[in-house]
Amino acid sequence: MVDESTEINAAASDDTLSEMRDLYSIIRQANEAYYQNDEPVLVDAEYDKKKERLRQLERRYPNLKAVDSPTGKVGAPPAEGFKKARHEVPMLSLDNAFSVEEVLEFDAKVRRFLGWDIGTPLEYDAEPKIDGLSLSLTYVDGLLRRATTRGDGTTGEDVTRNAQTIPEIPERIEGAPSFMEVRGEIYMGREEFKSLNERQEAASGKTYMNPRNAAAGSLRQIDPEITRNRKLQFFAHGFGKISEPLGATHAQAMTRLSEMGLPTNPITKTCSNFNEMKEYFEGIEQQRSRLAYDIDGVVFKVSRISLQTRLGSSSTAPRWAVSAKFPGETAWTTLRRIEIQVGRTGALSPVARLDPVTVGGVVVSNATLHNEDYIAGVGSDGQPIRDGKDLREGDWVKVYRAGDVIPKVADVDCSRRKGGSTRFEFPKACPACGSAAPREETDAVRRCGGDIACPAQQVERLKHFVSRNAFNVEGLGDRLIEQFHSEGLLRQPADIFKLRKRIGSGENSLQEWHGWGAKSASKLFDEIDSRRSISLNRLIFALGIRHVGEGVADRLALHFGTWSAFDETLTSACERNENALSELVSVEGIGETIAKSLIGAFSDPNIKKAMDGLVNELKDIQDVERAQISDSPISGITIVFTGTLAAMTRAEAKARAEALGARISGSVSARTGLVVAGQGSGSKGKKAQELGVRVIDEAEWLDLVGKAG
Ligand code: IVH
Repeated sequence: MVDESTEINAAASDDTLSEMRDLYSIIRQANEAYYQNDEPVLVDAEYDKKKERLRQLERRYPNLKAVDSPTGKVGAPPAEGFKKARHEVPMLSLDNAFSVEEVLEFDAKVRRFLGWDIGTPLEYDAEPKIDGLSLSLTYVDGLLRRATTRGDGTTGEDVTRNAQTIPEIPERIEGAPSFMEVRGEIYMGREEFKSLNERQEAASGKTYMNPRNAAAGSLRQIDPEITRNRKLQFFAHGFGKISEPLGATHAQAMTRLSEMGLPTNPITKTCSNFNEMKEYFEGIEQQRSRLAYDIDGVVFKVSRISLQTRLGSSSTAPRWAVSAKFPGETAWTTLRRIEIQVGRTGALSPVARLDPVTVGGVVVSNATLHNEDYIAGVGSDGQPIRDGKDLREGDWVKVYRAGDVIPKVADVDCSRRKGGSTRFEFPKACPACGSAAPREETDAVRRCGGDIACPAQQVERLKHFVSRNAFNVEGLGDRLIEQFHSEGLLRQPADIFKLRKRIGSGENSLQEWHGWGAKSASKLFDEIDSRRSISLNRLIFALGIRHVGEGVADRLALHFGTWSAFDETLTSACERNENALSELVSVEGIGETIAKSLIGAFSDPNIKKAMDGLVNELKDIQDVERAQISDSPISGITIVFTGTLAAMTRAEAKARAEALGARISGSVSARTGLVVAGQGSGSKGKKAQELGVRVIDEAEWLDLVGKAG
């Protein structure tokens, strides 16, 4: 029989060849944009169509198929990266306030923590929130030693050579403390942004969506000479580890940095009361469009550094600062379809597919619709929202970017509604697995009852598992997870650690079957293997149990210390063991809801099996990352506070103890290492004595931890 393909091969025209070449180049570029730059240049359907066309041509003309054809590839190999570098003091994010009330709430929280009433004067330093990317500069004996991006907050990328090309960043500083981490923002001015895009366009290069993306893309260039040509700028706005104080207040510290030659923002103000804060916010909002750079709000920081130290941080953000965001811009567009996505915990989340529209410089084509009440026009309190107007497919809607990030629907113009439009019928079953999706009385959302058997939940759990603040498996992006899941290679987290065995070699290997290069394949497997050693807090967070976010995971890890202690207590709690139950709810910050959710997970045999399978794959589960403070006298000890303290609030005392590596518990047990008894301590003090636990009074406590100024 004549080989059909060879026959047709012979007939392949120049046109076919050039079409295939074009497709190669388009798909390669699209892959790179998608996998390496996180900036898709083709919509999914278009991409799929092109790839399918190429496959078709390759099937017909196999000897025209290039050896490195993109049809054989899952994605482009990860970008050659920068060296990793650890921050001496973590780079946190900021809590947001979206209204005047929320700024007031922030002030109230600060006062509660300090035990200050509303009449006590408390100053805040206010400055614009620059829309750039954060950078940490390490100076040793006045010499710039390292510039590091934020990364996951603990470890960032070493971009020193690039930062050195930015004229505003001094290489050498006279009179600097011997060690100093300066924190600030890299940004690109609006003029430079415009001119860069014009230059790029003229050279058929990549253009950028907004100045922030341009700044990020320009700093993370492998070739520092490109960074040099991009005219990046820098504003210092704080500091990390420092060998001697820069001043008693934030404003003083900024003045000192400015005297050292570091650029600081001139339009700042020390506010003595709430009115001044409001005035500053409104003033900056008015100036916003005339500034030479993009800002997205105002940051208020408790002025006195000693108070900042007392307030400390949660695991994600300092308690002494808040970012007050400007209201986002809005735009009108058509709501084409309402689709239902299934989340990690089974929640059915409606998403609006919109005709693409530009909102504040960014193209928006999806918006969250929260839940079925939101679509119906009812708020979480049962009150009508959008004047009770429901949302329907085909509607003309107003969208905005909440906190300038997540697009939402603010309004709907019913007068433009065409006849025949009907109310949206929210599904009662999971669109992914068909399981019933009931809505609990206390829950705003419907949840798929398929749990870990639901394919959509599986995929979302896996994505969560590898995400930055969980196992942080960088090479395993969303697309790869989806692909491996659809191929049956991944069902649960433990499977990730089995990938090397399954597709590391042989005929189903990534190289043979998926067309990967040997180097990128082994890089992925090595990265996965390196995560077999993980901290307990990350592990607990990665499990993706409902209500167990990072903060809760931190507290649980801090309290239990080891996986086996955590596992044992939960297993006993599932068997209704009273001691275990009371220990669980005694953990600071763990209430009924969280406890129930944890017990629900541990008593589900499938989930438990998946967890055991995962732990089996791990090599080493370390103590909580933040609690590695070995030189503190209370490190690793479980402390119970009882009664009232005079010098600090309970919240401050607990935060301080945790910062020094202690665990906090609400009840005295054999595990308790120390009881701090304030005024009027009752039964807990007695119980401690019975158990032979050491009890100290407030004065001894203050001696132990040293009182911050
Ligand atoms: S103070 C969390 N001040 O905003 C550490 N941050 O959303 C205290 N940012 O990563 C940050 N302008 O890079 C501070 N004037 C300003 C800022 C600012 C921009 C960035 C910062 C941080 C992010 C948090």
